[in-house]
Amino acid sequence: MASLTKASARFIIIAEGRGNLDHHRASVHDDSRKTQDSSLLTLPAPSVKTIAVALTGASGMPYGLRLVECLLAAGCKVWLLYSQVAQIVARQEMDLALPARPAEVEAMLSARFGAADGQLRVFGREEWFAPPASGSNPPDAMVVCPCSMGSLAAIAAGLASTLIERAADVAIKEGRKLILVPRETPFSPLHLENMLRLSRMGVVILPANPGFYHHPQTVGELVDFIVARILDQLAVPHSLMPRWGEAGVSED
Ligand SMILES: Cc1cc2nc3c(=O)[nH]c(=O)nc-3n(C[C@H](O)[C@H](O)[C@H](O)COP(=O)(O)O)c2cc1C
Repeated sequence: MASLTKASARFIIIAEGRGNLDHHRASVHDDSRKTQDSSLLTLPAPSVKTIAVALTGASGMPYGLRLVECLLAAGCKVWLLYSQVAQIVARQEMDLALPARPAEVEAMLSARFGAADGQLRVFGREEWFAPPASGSNPPDAMVVCPCSMGSLAAIAAGLASTLIERAADVAIKEGRKLILVPRETPFSPLHLENMLRLSRMGVVILPANPGFYHHPQTVGELVDFIVARILDQLAVPHSLMPRWGEAGVSED
């Protein structure tokens, strides 16, 4: 660390200041930085979180889209990735035609969710120069929602053969928060082993199985149950549903 140039030291400090969502991430303790350029330590920590959201080909596309909507509404930047089968599932479940061209998806969803300029960026399957493809510019956290068993297996095996798999691989190697929202039933031993393997690495396995104790009346309320749990994991404030012990989920 003592051999750091000023430029690389500045980069590290900026990266560490971002979002700080991940309690797993090891902090770098190196007092030698202080003597290199004390002005670097006064850089304000940007408060805007950048969250990568990957839509893959599992049932549960409303969870993923609602998550994107809520993150944008909360002022987060969203980097959206989507697989080919996610396009099929989006059409099947939501009558939503996700264009093959990322720029078109970006325009469509930005308009749909009222995103500010540049708040939503959408990347293609093999866009290897996109920021989430590298550990030098990772998002604060990544959520794969919904997560197919295929993507789960690829991530567990470290395949990194698509941008989604690579971004997840980067999140794991950089110690960033990675949340998978798997959807399948029943789970096979292989699915369970993949989940356990990832869980032991610090990956959050947050299955798409909503509770019913808040007396949901609509599908939207069931969707929000899961999205609320994801936002909690990301430390993004929300008021999607009452919390345990509050009116609506107590005995009264
Ligand atoms: C309409 C539809 C629904 C699907 N639902 C699921 C599902 O709930 N869980 C799952 O693991 N795979 C599901 N699949 C299969 C996956 O999409 C398939 O294994 C695919 O190769 C996953 O690739 P991806 O992860 O790159 O999207 C579904 C496929 C379709 C077309």
